[in-house]
Amino acid sequence: MDPDSAHPRYQLIEYEAGRDDFAEAVREGLLHPSKTLPFRFFYDHRGSQLFEEICRIPEYYPTRCEREILEQRADEIAEHFEVPITLAELGSGSASKTTLLIEAFQRRQERLQYIPADISRSALEASSQGLLERYPKLEIVALCAEYEQCLRHIEKETLAPKLIAWLGSSVGNLSLEEATRFLIQIRSAMASGDGLLMGVDLHKSAVVLERAYDDAAGVTARFNKNLLDRIDRELAGEFYMASFSHVARWNEAMSRVEMHLRSDRKQRVRIAALGIEVSFDEGETIHTENSHKYSMERIENLVAASDLTLNEVWTDAQGYFALVLATAGTERGNHANA
Ligand code: AVI
Repeated sequence: MDPDSAHPRYQLIEYEAGRDDFAEAVREGLLHPSKTLPFRFFYDHRGSQLFEEICRIPEYYPTRCEREILEQRADEIAEHFEVPITLAELGSGSASKTTLLIEAFQRRQERLQYIPADISRSALEASSQGLLERYPKLEIVALCAEYEQCLRHIEKETLAPKLIAWLGSSVGNLSLEEATRFLIQIRSAMASGDGLLMGVDLHKSAVVLERAYDDAAGVTARFNKNLLDRIDRELAGEFYMASFSHVARWNEAMSRVEMHLRSDRKQRVRIAALGIEVSFDEGETIHTENSHKYSMERIENLVAASDLTLNEVWTDAQGYFALVLATAGTERGNHANA
């Protein structure tokens, strides 16, 4: 089955991507006195593959824990809503955990419309093909676009009630201000009674956190260094990979794991396509990612600041990860923890 052909249960809607200039971001980030590169540039084809690999390494607990919660709570989640419901998912990727939600909804309603939204057309096509084969009563409207555009589509084109899933603790890669702004955007795409299901990684010991972001097999190091490799490939950069180290450190004051790339010696690196040379002192770092870890109180504040009602916060048995269910414009429910 080819989801690209005129499949009666499949539609792909592609919106033009906004201008997101890698070259400009690299110039700005590396010429700044505190060097940074935006985390969104991790996810080229190679980076997305490495991220899928990260999700399978033993030290990276978030995927495992979120799956555990979904296995236990998917039916409860489905029961929160009137049928029929539409399921949308932001950043659907391989949609591997979403099958648990699809199956729970299909126990209550035969037909289900699923709207996966992702910037990667190939990920949407591959995941849709698998889902259409596996679930004969599933209809898919795949949105290939940035989050903002997807939300506008979901708001205008989807009948209520709907559940918007945003899994994988992607919220952690945003600052609290950015997260609040984004949740307000999600809220404005929701009608009264619609739900948001969000994965959130919780505050825990520094040892567990640093291991999760610096695994023994070095997959996360390759994921981080892929940014330099990308500069070499796309912008004729001359980074000598062996002279940079992957660093993952827990910043307690900011409640986040930070990823950096550290220059192990004093050096200058030419980036021909930008016509620049970047100087590094020994030990100087490029800050590439923040992954914020939440307390229950911080989750409650974030949800309240976004004008959503918190219904449930479920955690895995270890208390490492939380799945948050919030709804638009309904009464405040119970906060049940596993
Ligand atoms: C996608 N995001 C939620 C991951 C995280 O845990 O912050 C990205 C990641 N970076 C290193 N490992 C995984």
